[in-house]
Amino acid sequence: MYLSLSGRKRTGFISACVAVILYTTYTLACGFYSNRVLQEDLVPSVVIEVPDEALRPDSENVALHNPSDAHESPTKIEAPRPVGIGTANATMVMLARNDEIDGVLSSMATVENRFNREHGYPWTFLNEVEFTEEFKSRVKNATSAHVSFGLIPDEHWSQPNWIDEVMATKGRKKMAQAKIIYADNVPYRNMCRFNSGFFYKQPILQQYRYYWRVEPNVRIMCDVKFDPFDYLRDNNKIYGFTIAFTEWEKTIPTLWSTVKEFMVKHPEYVNEDNALGFLSDNKGKTYNLCHFWSNFEIADMNFWRSEAYEKFFDYLENRGGFYYERWGDAPVHSIAAALFAPKEQLHFFRNIGYRHEPFQHCPSGADYEGLNCECKAGDGLDYAPQSCIRRYENLFSGK
Ligand SMILES: *[C@@H]1O[C@H](CO)[C@@H](O)[C@H](O)[C@H]1NC(C)=O
Ligand SMILES: *[C@@H]1O[C@H](CO)[C@@H](O)[C@H](O)[C@H]1NC(C)=O
Repeated sequence: MYLSLSGRKRTGFISACVAVILYTTYTLACGFYSNRVLQEDLVPSVVIEVPDEALRPDSENVALHNPSDAHESPTKIEAPRPVGIGTANATMVMLARNDEIDGVLSSMATVENRFNREHGYPWTFLNEVEFTEEFKSRVKNATSAHVSFGLIPDEHWSQPNWIDEVMATKGRKKMAQAKIIYADNVPYRNMCRFNSGFFYKQPILQQYRYYWRVEPNVRIMCDVKFDPFDYLRDNNKIYGFTIAFTEWEKTIPTLWSTVKEFMVKHPEYVNEDNALGFLSDNKGKTYNLCHFWSNFEIADMNFWRSEAYEKFFDYLENRGGFYYERWGDAPVHSIAAALFAPKEQLHFFRNIGYRHEPFQHCPSGADYEGLNCECKAGDGLDYAPQSCIRRYENLFSGK
């Protein structure tokens, strides 16, 4: 867990505890496309501190997950209901490889059963190689909604020619020595860059405004009894999340200084009512590493298509940090959403239960009622020390 990664003392997290999460043998079950993976040797045994208010009488083991449960993903989809009810200009979107088909079907099953079979939003799949016929037919069979497949052009997926390969190799070696996950992995960097600056430019996505990003092997843990796309549209929100965490500092050593330069050059893009307090604990001097977990996003592509974000992405791209370092799409998206939009346009989907190994968000209190959740109310890391939810809430509480 990146508890210990941001220069903080690991012992700081080992204090009064209610639960222990032990993932000593976590495997890369989520494939390349998973943003977050535990680093075994940095997690001997992690004791998560959960504040009293997170403890609920109805759940004794607040933060205790049972990883084995999470793997029983039913790939069988219940009988389809009438489709076409969803009215938003939106699509489900998944970046996947052919060999991830099992994880793809498992994610689709939870999204369809918990939400989409009542709404019929189309699915869009993206890959840097052609999907096989088998992949396509199995995916089509898993939903009654429209499905389309897009091939990512090479220039959106590969390391640009102008990147200095000697410098990039040096950066990867340094990261490997620091035992950072995906340290010397170039495809992973291609993916982070693609998700940061190119997915919403794919021709197949031009017809849509809103998207729900789904990854292989994730779970929607409760029924979603509302339409999150309508919610964004009707409330003029641009970005919705379920989990917010701190990033590994070693993957982004110069990201924040680059962001600060950009803000000085382009003060016109920084919103007056921004969410800088989510990103920085000292008014912008340093980055506190907080970001929304981008493997789940329900958001407005027109924000990524805006001039502010386009200029921002180009500025980052020209620095080469996607390759010289390992800038992730999660901090890149989060920083942009927090700075260029008013904070009221961000949204914490408290009422959506979501799990991406090994973390989850489970609704609590009134939000939990009647959703047939497969998780215990509040059982997640919302208020664990490395979570950034509290900082998000403080944006709105005048702190
Ligand atoms: C299609 O889906 C049904 C129901 O989930 C399943 O029984 C069937 O085996 C699937 N067919 C193919 C070709 O995957
Ligand atoms: C959906 O949104 C896209 C992007 O804003 C837009 O180009 C398209 O016309 C919209 N479609 C409808 C039906 O409103």
